[in-house]
Amino acid sequence: MTQSPGQGQALDNLLTESRTFPPSAEFAAQANARPELYEEAKADREAFWAKQAERLHWETKWDQVLDWSNAPFAKWFVGGKLNVAYNCVDRHVESGHGDQVAIHWEGEPGDSRAITYAELQREVSKAANALASLGIGAEDRVAIYMPMIPEAIFAMLACARVGALHNVVFGGFSAEALRTRIQDSACRLVITTDGQYRRGTPAPLKPAVDEAVAGAPSVEKVLVVKRTDTEVAWTDKDVWWHELVDSQPDQHTPEAFDSEHPLFILYTSGTTGKPKGILHTSGGYLTQTSYTHHNVFDLKPDTDVYWCTADIGWVTGHSYIVYGPLSNRVTQVVYEGTPNTPHEGRHWEIVQKYGVSIYYTAPTLIRTFMKWGADIPAKYDLSSLRVLGSVGEPINPEAWIWYRENVGGGKAPIVDTWWQTETGAIMISPLPGVVSTKPGSAQRPLPGIGAKVVNDEGVEVEHGGGGYLVLDEPWPSMLRGIWGDEERYRDTYWSRFGEQGFYFAGDGAKYDDDGDIWLLGRVDDVMNVSGHRISTTEVESALVSHPTVAEAAVVGASDATTGQGIVAFVILRGGAGDDAGGAEAIKALRDHVAKEIGPIAKPRQIMVVPELPKTRSGKIMRRLLRDVAENRAVGDVTTLADSSVMDLISAGLQSDKSED
Ligand code: WT7
Repeated sequence: MTQSPGQGQALDNLLTESRTFPPSAEFAAQANARPELYEEAKADREAFWAKQAERLHWETKWDQVLDWSNAPFAKWFVGGKLNVAYNCVDRHVESGHGDQVAIHWEGEPGDSRAITYAELQREVSKAANALASLGIGAEDRVAIYMPMIPEAIFAMLACARVGALHNVVFGGFSAEALRTRIQDSACRLVITTDGQYRRGTPAPLKPAVDEAVAGAPSVEKVLVVKRTDTEVAWTDKDVWWHELVDSQPDQHTPEAFDSEHPLFILYTSGTTGKPKGILHTSGGYLTQTSYTHHNVFDLKPDTDVYWCTADIGWVTGHSYIVYGPLSNRVTQVVYEGTPNTPHEGRHWEIVQKYGVSIYYTAPTLIRTFMKWGADIPAKYDLSSLRVLGSVGEPINPEAWIWYRENVGGGKAPIVDTWWQTETGAIMISPLPGVVSTKPGSAQRPLPGIGAKVVNDEGVEVEHGGGGYLVLDEPWPSMLRGIWGDEERYRDTYWSRFGEQGFYFAGDGAKYDDDGDIWLLGRVDDVMNVSGHRISTTEVESALVSHPTVAEAAVVGASDATTGQGIVAFVILRGGAGDDAGGAEAIKALRDHVAKEIGPIAKPRQIMVVPELPKTRSGKIMRRLLRDVAENRAVGDVTTLADSSVMDLISAGLQSDKSED
């Protein structure tokens, strides 16, 4: 069943999945995506992308589709000029859709607001005039540190409108994290709020800005939206949004900027190291976010209600709440709060309230819903849902099936979308209505995208083989570098397969026998057991396929005989029963993994835990679990969403050592 990675493979392929779900005839007949897209893109990639760029309004048309002569720094749609905010707002008003709701905003405490495109145009224009009145214009950097309120979106679009770069910092980050991100890109302005709602209670936000700004001399002004009405200290840099923005004229003439004009910087913290300021530009970025949003989510602007549950602090919020969807004239839900405030059915209540038809979320949340139990979504009418999406981590086949059955009514196609902050937009995903989906697989590069799985030498592995995921062609929404650090850009992404000229994404992946791509987690997390290179994802998926397990994280810990042994941490499903964590049950789980993927992958040890350490964007931090598994002091926990989780895990440890 297992084979050694010796035969030109960098990763073992252990788990097989035979379920597939062909699109229904009804869905296929109405799908935006067409099978011909693949051939069209293959026949002439640049012509294909030029055609996609026609989705946008260009003030001046480009004269060259791609300039890759200065690789790895790409230029797309060279010579073209456009205004990104005009494309996301004004042109929809001009085409007669001013009364269409752009945003159904739902606040955490239950307040709500419907914003039409005409209103969005006025709000963004006022905000753009306010920026101009503060002297903010082309190439200036503006930090945005806000909860999920409409003004956050107005602020991003206002920056785009005047040609300033936004640097959105997730509102859950600390003052210190904010300061380093402001300083690295020398922001002149910070836009924030007095406070934010967190699980039902207002929490102050501005004090963190005050602290950050005290150590960031580049900041001249701080624009403050009143959200929670919390008492805040006031400095001479502070300006209230409602005083400055609300008094501005609600018309603003957008200026067209070069296709390669910078649009934003977004810092990726990753799990270690100084955050990298990922730089994105205008024309190529908007082309690919628009194209992917149209084809992957099958958006019908006149009838769909779309909801992406991400925060604008992450790239998913940039590309699939703001730029892609708004460029496609979406009607979308934006929700301010957490999924269990005030109860664990909040998302389904919102789906029912607005008739959400397209829902895009992360595997970590799907597994949390599994833990809470299927009876919760069952209480709501979810029949409006017709497309489901997943992003951020590999989705385990069982979580995929759970999502399909309990959220998608057993029929909505699921698009598992692989991409990164660096890629700017979706790269690998099935096209709904065209491709038969497979639980757990992102399947194939989108038309126009080049991706493959290669071995250590950069040679493509055969079907059934595992290795490294690389991107072998430049793409329109690719990063244009790391802010202020050209060397780091080259080193991080282009050195591993420099000879071949491939971008290396840092992920392990495999092809199945049909040639579909499966993501296997970060290569830094790969375990080596008796010479087998085993991905964390496959063992985790095997664990999650047991009916008692909601979520699992595995790591390799040194082992005297096998090099590394597999140590698993599992969270049980709601209703799994009191015995589910007992010694017998643990043994059953170990046997289950052995049966699913072979004895080589049988965990040496399994620990039942109440929570797993995750970053604020929901990714499991296996590094910290490795420390626990190796009995080392636990390392840097500053990027953890909840730093008490590691104490919980360590406290429970003594109780269970199920080796045999
Ligand atoms: C990393 C990028 C892309 C928006 C959110 C995350 C992992 C992302 C998938 C997927 C397996 C995935 C990869 C990637 N990842 N989507 N569908 N299947 N893994 O952006 O924070 O830049 O993280 O997330 O490891 O490299 P990000």
